[in-house]
Amino acid sequence: MFRFNYSKEFLSWALRPPGYYKSWHIGVRAKASKKLVAFITGVPARIRVRDEVVKMAEINFLCVHKKLRSKRLAPVMIKEVTRRVHLENIWQAAYTAGVVLPTPITTCQYWHRSLNPKKLIDVGFSRLGPRMTMSRTIKLYKLPDSPATPGFRKMELHDVPAVTRLLRNYLSQFVVSPDFDENDVEHWLLPTEGVVDSYLVESPETHDVTDFCSFYTLPSSILGNQNYSILKAAYSYYNVSTKTPLLQLMNDALIVAKQKDFDVFNALDVMHNESFLKELKFGPGDGQLHYYLYNYRIRNALRPSELGLIRSGLHHINCSAAIHSQGFGMQCKQEQPLLCF
Ligand SMILES: CC(C)(COP(=O)(O)OP(=O)(O)OC[C@H]1O[C@@H](n2cnc3c(N)ncnc32)[C@H](O)[C@@H]1OP(=O)(O)O)[C@@H](O)C(=O)NCCC(=O)NCCS
Repeated sequence: MFRFNYSKEFLSWALRPPGYYKSWHIGVRAKASKKLVAFITGVPARIRVRDEVVKMAEINFLCVHKKLRSKRLAPVMIKEVTRRVHLENIWQAAYTAGVVLPTPITTCQYWHRSLNPKKLIDVGFSRLGPRMTMSRTIKLYKLPDSPATPGFRKMELHDVPAVTRLLRNYLSQFVVSPDFDENDVEHWLLPTEGVVDSYLVESPETHDVTDFCSFYTLPSSILGNQNYSILKAAYSYYNVSTKTPLLQLMNDALIVAKQKDFDVFNALDVMHNESFLKELKFGPGDGQLHYYLYNYRIRNALRPSELGLIRSGLHHINCSAAIHSQGFGMQCKQEQPLLCF
């Protein structure tokens, strides 16, 4: 019923971060027609696991043309990207999948916050609750017209150093997180029209940047609906609260997403997200997203709240009637040297 509708700008953002390798964007084309029939990508990332920062590949966007499914082309794609990652002397990878593979470091769940409940119900994304009418549902999800926090504004280029400091400090409390420097923050978090939105709270008194929230844009095509063809979804990205309560900050994020005409705001139960999901009227999706590290053994599985990593453009969402899937998996090769701690 729904199909991800990636924009060129989104793919460019997801696939060309600082230090990206063109050789890790791998397509297979039919000889005669030149049609793209299989695809897989990797991008470099520094991932911190407890006290250690490891250069990894983030693998994403595995897909095989429908007519070539079940021919074991996926393992070939995975082997080839692995080979090209190894050529750069990188031996670890991070990836996620909706499917269970050996062995997830954690398993997360997507939650969905209706912004335009009437449309979500009309297109079959969600259902009218028992004993609920449409008008009561619309009232339930209504949001104020503008953000409530004084000093809440869009992030700008000159904020990159302050946001980097804030984010590094915040992410250090999680067991696994990216090790972002200023270049990474500029790429991943500086607002890009139609791709990523970031807001911060600048204290009206001290002008310090005290809080930060962000979300990225990934619409889906709606198949077979007469009234609507696109579902506009925002995905919670990195959020940092030091002065403004996270609940209030995220409510402001919902307000700006609504202002920008998003239909739904999605968030995983990672980091401190559990503290606001229920209160801000997110509902649980029925799909799971498993996170994996390749060739890096961690002692125990993590709770989602110990994970500080959001994979941009990496999704596997099953919501009531909707199944969105995208992502990647590589089988953990036990015979390879494992880094242990
Ligand atoms: C995911 C997709 C590429 C798999 O291709 P396929 O033609 O169905 O499967 P193949 O015959 O090529 O390969 C099957 C093998 O790949 C593995 N595999 C399938 N999906 C996988 C994933 N996301 N990650 C890692 N391995 C995966 C299977 O476990 C199986 O291996 P096994 O027999 O050792 O268990 C294909 O279904 C597709 O393009 N789906 C739409 C996009 C998508 O869902 N991408 C990733 C979702 S997490």
